[in-house]
Amino acid sequence: MLFLASTFSSAALQLPARSAVATHARAAASMIAPEMTGVETKKAVTGPTFSKSLATPDPIPEEGQKRALELMKSGALFRYTPGVESETALAEWDMTERTGFKYSVGFNSCGSALFIALKTCGVQPGDHVLANGFSFTAVPSAIHHAGGIPVYVESTDAYVMDMEDLERKIKGSDVKIKFLMLTHMRGKVAEMQRVYEIAQEHDITVIEDCAHALGVMWDGVQLGRSASVACYSSQSAKVINSGEGGFFMTDDDELAAKAACYAGCYEQLYLQHVVAPPAEVFDRVKFGTPNYSLRMSDLAAACVRPQIRSLDARISQYNSRYAMICAELKDCEHIDIPAINPRVSPVSDSLQFNLQGMSPAQVDAFLAACKRRGMPVGLFGSKENARNYENWRYSPAAAPLPFTKALIAAAIDVRLPAEFNDDDFPQMAKVLLAAVDDALEA
Ligand SMILES: Cc1ncc(COP(=O)(O)O)c(C=O)c1O
Repeated sequence: MLFLASTFSSAALQLPARSAVATHARAAASMIAPEMTGVETKKAVTGPTFSKSLATPDPIPEEGQKRALELMKSGALFRYTPGVESETALAEWDMTERTGFKYSVGFNSCGSALFIALKTCGVQPGDHVLANGFSFTAVPSAIHHAGGIPVYVESTDAYVMDMEDLERKIKGSDVKIKFLMLTHMRGKVAEMQRVYEIAQEHDITVIEDCAHALGVMWDGVQLGRSASVACYSSQSAKVINSGEGGFFMTDDDELAAKAACYAGCYEQLYLQHVVAPPAEVFDRVKFGTPNYSLRMSDLAAACVRPQIRSLDARISQYNSRYAMICAELKDCEHIDIPAINPRVSPVSDSLQFNLQGMSPAQVDAFLAACKRRGMPVGLFGSKENARNYENWRYSPAAAPLPFTKALIAAAIDVRLPAEFNDDDFPQMAKVLLAAVDDALEA
């Protein structure tokens, strides 16, 4: 606050203030450097260590880099630049080809797409929206943004929505619940047949949060295809990376036209879309739909397009490496990796497991040991974690979620970056096993 006040009070103060920030950032970096690199701490440990960052994003393929550079040279980054073929419109087309949806609208993020999914599906302020008790803060935030009230549903120990609790929450509600926003957290998939049976029985509109589920199939069909709207992310940590970005996907003419208008398609700009509902649908909805300026940039679209096309090759690489690391961990009685439902074809770009037979202090010791060995991993239930529902204080759970609480208290999250080499994965497994031993000895 003090810094902001000084920055705004006088231009003359800006330089010192900025350099103060840089100094602060450098100081912070030097504070975390030993843990991130493991340089200093590795001296103190014996046995396996790791030195690459699990946060390593996927690079932009050369084709995308080239196109992005052309766009930057011409300055045509706006998706509706007159006379320029829109990369966003083409990415929307690519996404319909990839997923089978009729329509796609590019957004600046998946969180924005989820918010607009709720708006287009008719969520009104005060409406209750069923959502996973275990997901990411962007999901309850999208519900909050739309004025909705999340009703959190418990998770199974395989990280997916518990169908019995879903029914309980619907039947036990004082008000009629009309919406479900279902998250496939880390690409894990609930019993989808049951989801839609329940939704049909109770006349509930389903929006699927497929931020982590591009390429994930249920019975051989892209996840999200049964929803009124499904949203996919292209934020840096996802299997397609444009830094920031998201796609709103639907088969419905009116939802698609409204989503495009909400994103920032005005006048007759819809004529520049490649996949779009008929003009009369736009003309019917456009003056009644606010423009929230949430468009995808053509720069983001240029980065992401070649990755949409090359996704299958990366999926088989992710899955073979996941199998490698699971094989190394399978005999450890303290590591439980929930089995994948045989109806699911996964995209295993990350590993989650439940630490078993460990006290909270041993879980902490495990985290510390991973960090000491140069490979910090996440605990979903940690005090800082944005996936811990207790941190969503803007929209708190109305009732306790004891199962989810117990689950995330020992659920570990490990990213498996595509940029790593095959031999990194057995090494990562060794570090995890050594950290289990360290924790048990602590
Ligand atoms: C489960 C889940 N849903 C939605 C989002 C929102 O995606 P974005 O970062 O593109 O807004 C995220 C972001 O990581 C997420 O983890």
